[in-house]
Amino acid sequence: MLRRLHLDQPDSFAFTPANQAWAEAQITKYPEGRQASAIIPLLWRAQEQEGWLTRPAIETVADMLDMAYIRALEVASFYFMFQLQPVGSVAHIQVCGTTSCMICGAEDLVAVCKKKIAKKPHQLSEDGKFSWEEVECLGSCANAPMAQIGKDYYEDLTAARMGELIDELAAGKVPTPGPQNGRYAAEPLSGLTTLKDFDSGHTKYNASVQLATDIGDTVKRIDGTEVPLIAPWQGKAANAAAKPKAAAKPAKKAAPKPKAATKSKAKPAAKAEPVETSTGAKPATLDSARDGKGDDLKMIKGVGPKLETLLNSMGFYHFDQIAAWTGAEVAWADQNLVGFKGRVSRDDWVGQSKALATGAETEFSRRAKKDDIYNGE
Ligand code: FES
Repeated sequence: MLRRLHLDQPDSFAFTPANQAWAEAQITKYPEGRQASAIIPLLWRAQEQEGWLTRPAIETVADMLDMAYIRALEVASFYFMFQLQPVGSVAHIQVCGTTSCMICGAEDLVAVCKKKIAKKPHQLSEDGKFSWEEVECLGSCANAPMAQIGKDYYEDLTAARMGELIDELAAGKVPTPGPQNGRYAAEPLSGLTTLKDFDSGHTKYNASVQLATDIGDTVKRIDGTEVPLIAPWQGKAANAAAKPKAAAKPAKKAAPKPKAATKSKAKPAAKAEPVETSTGAKPATLDSARDGKGDDLKMIKGVGPKLETLLNSMGFYHFDQIAAWTGAEVAWADQNLVGFKGRVSRDDWVGQSKALATGAETEFSRRAKKDDIYNGE
């Protein structure tokens, strides 16, 4: 399969402060001179943050690891787990099409995806919520046919159940992963023949599903706000390192030192600067914060220190400003937050701001305050 960079690329990429601290902590795992070994976790974190792996993200990671861009691109394009094009905002469905699954009905599952999502793999559904692809054996052959959705496996599928899964996900639910036909794990369909006392003391679900259910991150993207993000080899939480004063050794700068001859000539990731486009309608702005003090916009999930600075520079200081944005104004903001495109609708800033403007807390703001995520900036 031809794996290429997507034609439509964003201008820049930057890890969120928490993800940056996490990435820097990962790099410390490896001895001097072997930092490139961190390429896969860093690329994965970049993909988790953005949903897919953009060229600026690949180049940013290459810079952090002092690698030639082509080396990082080789890794990103080799492993199918890296998505080189946008994926559904809710879920990307990977249907196994290898022997066991194919014999047991994978083609019917693919047909459901074609009907409910898009005719071709890697195409976004009309509402942008879903995408799908066929993948090679995912190692769950005893529970064929199966599909990976987000981080978890959905096994013993039928076409009807696959359709239901998509509908449930579209409705904001996260169906319980694992066997979908009542099996506990991969025991015989006709029932146990040995180890019949297995029932005593086992958890509600098999170990994988129990963990998936306990963590609850099946289709949730890691955005660095999860706490604690432990970096045990450093004996501290990575989120603590997110505080600028306590930050781990800064990553090597993304530019502009001369690069090896093999490195791409592509321009370094652009800095996030407000460059206005004509999409949507520009919301009303303020010359300065009312009473000289803006709200702490970092209490909005998806807004970190950099983005707050950018918002302030554009004339947005208060929750009630964002809470009043119309659909057209959200579209404008989604386009004009350079480096953070699509963030406003993705994280429902308007809904969050409506609550925050009244003095209420959101789940994120409560957590951010409790864990003091941005203290010290
Ligand atoms: S053939 Fe589908 S998981 Fe192995």
